[in-house]
Amino acid sequence: MSLVRTTDTQFRLLDGETLLEGLERTGHQVEYQCRSGYCGSCRIPLVYGQVTYKEQPLAYVAPGEVLPCCCTAAEPISVDCQRMPKAQEENEGQLSFSGLSA
Ligand code: FES
Repeated sequence: MSLVRTTDTQFRLLDGETLLEGLERTGHQVEYQCRSGYCGSCRIPLVYGQVTYKEQPLAYVAPGEVLPCCCTAAEPISVDCQRMPKAQEENEGQLSFSGLSA
């Protein structure tokens, strides 16, 4: 259950959850199509940390990028991804992470 920092907030990935699933669960806006590493449409910038892929994705992944649909984090990471404005308003104050450290 690694800590994930985004542009707006931070959360912990659940066991077995992909980064995309965690981002969706916490109201982040991520484009996607195949959800299995083929198309590359979910590509987002990785600010720091490293992710792991269950299987090497077929889509090209440049240094400093990740494909959240098919990766998870084994250590704290930071990605450049924003929450949807509506989710941000509705969940304001609901996601409390006091006491967490990166
Ligand atoms: S959605 Fe296709 S590679 Fe992630």
